Amino acid sequence: MIKLLVGLRDWVDARLPIMRAWDTHMGGYYAPKNFNFFYFFGVLSLVVLVNQLLTGIWLTMMFVPDAEKAFASVEYIMRDVDYGWIIRYMHSTGASAFFVVVYIHMFRGLLYGSYKKPRELVWVFGMLILLALMAEAFLGYILPWGQMSYWGAQVIVSLFGAIPVIGDPLVEWIRGDYLISGITLNRFFALHVIAVPLILVALVVLHLLALHEVGSNNPDGVEIKKHKDENGIPLDGVAFHPYYTVHDIVGIVVFLMAFVSVIFFFPEMGGYFLEHANFEEANALKTPEHIAPVWYFTPFYSVLRAVPDKLYGFIAFGSSVAILFVLPWLDRSPVKSIRYRGKFSIGFLLVFVAAFIILGVLGVKSPTTERTFLAQVCSIIYFAFFLTMPIWSAKDKCKPEPDRVTMDGGFGLSGTLAGAAVVAILTVGPLWLVEYLHALGQASGH
Ligand code: HEM
Repeated sequence: MIKLLVGLRDWVDARLPIMRAWDTHMGGYYAPKNFNFFYFFGVLSLVVLVNQLLTGIWLTMMFVPDAEKAFASVEYIMRDVDYGWIIRYMHSTGASAFFVVVYIHMFRGLLYGSYKKPRELVWVFGMLILLALMAEAFLGYILPWGQMSYWGAQVIVSLFGAIPVIGDPLVEWIRGDYLISGITLNRFFALHVIAVPLILVALVVLHLLALHEVGSNNPDGVEIKKHKDENGIPLDGVAFHPYYTVHDIVGIVVFLMAFVSVIFFFPEMGGYFLEHANFEEANALKTPEHIAPVWYFTPFYSVLRAVPDKLYGFIAFGSSVAILFVLPWLDRSPVKSIRYRGKFSIGFLLVFVAAFIILGVLGVKSPTTERTFLAQVCSIIYFAFFLTMPIWSAKDKCKPEPDRVTMDGGFGLSGTLAGAAVVAILTVGPLWLVEYLHALGQASGH
């Protein structure tokens, strides 16, 4: 039997180089030996991608993309289809899980300067993935045809109306109708199940090909290709297979335990993963009291709302995502990893993360004068972080980078906890203050 299989493999290999591909990307791909916790999130993004594709295929078998039937077909999946509820929750929780793992994956890039030369293209493909992911999540959210599907789409699609001259016809072209209707639902369904997933998968392949061309970065930000043995193997590298394949299984199992706990016990996550208003069928004549996008869009949505003018708000919103594309060219630091950067870089990064989280929290709440002011301050911090980066990243006093990777864990547990505590204080403090000031204003009748 084994002989037969080996024979088959060799037959295919003589026609299609599968062994060479395996060697390039797995057995002969040398990854730095000092990967840490943050390096699980690339493979976890892949796990969630596969989950979304598989559960999506099964949902498509039962879902009806028709304004009259879509809402009922989702209820049918939840109540009558065998295991339909778990497939649907795997998909809806999977959407949020996707953004959790991808945001942490990107944050790792920020920490260790993984976007810097020679990995600029890895980052740019990553950003294109993020755009595709946002489009995919937005298109998918309209499908259950609940109140938030309808009105969320209404708000986001009408944003394009702010563009001068072509705005209104563009909005009509996107909707395919004079208002969000079954026609919009139909085309969003086609884009969600075919077009965007194809783009997403193609981009992930390009992302990984680009990564494997230059090799992975690591928490020390030093290139392992600098020191090789007589066979050309990096001294600080280990073969991806079997070492990281086995190591990644541990991360995948822990992730799946957390994932199924959410699916079983908190699938709606208190209205953050599936908003309460979406359990009511779409009604074009009844606007929900408070329209908020799902949590993963809220940092960027807050930037949009922080600007009083519709067109400038739209530009700020677009720029807040677009600016991430040029990050590799904004960072002028001589070192990659945060471990060897100076005080400015560490300080700015902590403030930036707090501002991003605050924007996210504010985006799910209805605006008050105080909240809008805080959103404006955090939007300025968000842009200032990137726009002033060429100055402070070049001037910052860095520590000398080691020649070889280290295995001592960098900042260690205490350093990491101290960083997390600073972010927590910087986040909770201003959020508490605006609520306090608002309550004070209410009490004094303003
Ligand atoms: C579907 C989404 C994504 C998937 C499946 C994915 C997959 C991966 C995988 C498997 C790796 C190698 C393992 C690792 O370093 O963790 C990786 C590395 C990387 N990814 Fe992604 N990724 C995704 C999205 C993104 C996004 C949105 C960005 C940033 C905009 C990004 C930036 C990077 C960078 C810079 C690296 C190299 C990291 C290093 O070597 O230190 N990725 N990605």
